[in-house]
Amino acid sequence: MLGRLAVVNAGELVTLRGPQVPRTREAMREVGIVASGGFFVEDGVFTFVATSNEVEDRIEPGDTVVDAGGRVVMPGFVDAHTHLVFAGDRFRDFEWRALGKSYAEIAQEGGGIRSTMRATRLAGENELLALARKRSRWMMRCGTTTAEVKSGYGLTKADEMKMLRVIRSLGEEAAINMVPTFLGLHALPPEFEGDRSGYVEMMLDEVLLQVAAENLAHWADIFVEEGYFSPDDAERLAERAKNLGLGLRMHVDQMQDSGGAALAARLGAATADHLEFTSESGIAALAEAGVVPVLLPGSVLGLGKNRYPNARAMIEAGLPVVVATDFNPGSSPCPSLPTTLSLACTMMGMTPEEALTSATVNAAYSLGLGHEVGSIEEGKRADFVIHDAEDWRETLVYSGRDTASEVYVAGNRVL
Ligand code: NIG
Ligand code: FE
Repeated sequence: MLGRLAVVNAGELVTLRGPQVPRTREAMREVGIVASGGFFVEDGVFTFVATSNEVEDRIEPGDTVVDAGGRVVMPGFVDAHTHLVFAGDRFRDFEWRALGKSYAEIAQEGGGIRSTMRATRLAGENELLALARKRSRWMMRCGTTTAEVKSGYGLTKADEMKMLRVIRSLGEEAAINMVPTFLGLHALPPEFEGDRSGYVEMMLDEVLLQVAAENLAHWADIFVEEGYFSPDDAERLAERAKNLGLGLRMHVDQMQDSGGAALAARLGAATADHLEFTSESGIAALAEAGVVPVLLPGSVLGLGKNRYPNARAMIEAGLPVVVATDFNPGSSPCPSLPTTLSLACTMMGMTPEEALTSATVNAAYSLGLGHEVGSIEEGKRADFVIHDAEDWRETLVYSGRDTASEVYVAGNRVL
């Protein structure tokens, strides 16, 4: 039998241990620090989490010992909203935005989601996989070990399936765990201009059915916004997703308050993402229906805007807030969760503890993985990161540094 892995001498072991439920209110501030901590991993799972001394006392011949050297050890971050798979770039959008053009103007002039769609359609599967692999390593270097990844830049049957296969292939490589989401209703492709209903029908009747049959996605998502998709489209998607056993996540209230939060509540979505313009009554609707808010401050920054979602009101309403990167080439080109969490603190009034909980335990629960990942506790998969820091808050406060010096997934070193 292979020996165990023992990690000792973690200056701060940030376990995030606690009740096995998403965290709300004061519980969001409990991050479970063990000073001078350590743990054992067996068969890819944490089996004993304690002080370093207690671990050292139990080490046996044949165990592999990793000395964290007084550094910070944390669970791998869970990024619950990304668009990691894409080809091409949006450098022109970036410049146009600097020159004062709006999201809508940029899209009209040939930038935006459709420009990434064109590049992604042209890219072969292997090329797309290589690009996604490279970018997944950027995320890993910031401490992420699980990522939800959306399709939505193909917008044809073949190209959406291609994106989802890339997500699956990447997840099969022994690195970041990938959670695939079907986002065929991300934007209307030019060949369906003037026929949104026909496009929605095609995506639901031909593509989503096939996606579900091949088990290529766990979730379905839609961009509900003026000029993109409507509440009616969302209702059709919700019904179909439910019949096929897929959970629902939704991009809502990003550019204006279009009642997206209440819509997500009515449709029984698992998450409502963005929520920059959601009103108090929208927040109450989320709380009432148990819809999890996924906040994406990197996209507010990336779009050069200043209206951030009202995280404090959401926490006060008892919602288990999640913060994610929304990593994509256009609106949110930052792949770093620590940098995003730093923004959550400076721009959304979250405390560092709340921010950390939002991107570990709460993010894991929002993906249905709360019992598997998100904390360093006995029985959970041994996804953990040794950060080059003495105090875990360094990773957020001195933002912009890649602090992950060793990354482990299921007890195997991947970086
Ligand atoms: O979450 N809001 C819609 N979708 C993405 C933007 C993707 C893109 O601009 O390529 C978002 O911000
Ligand atoms: Fe998004």
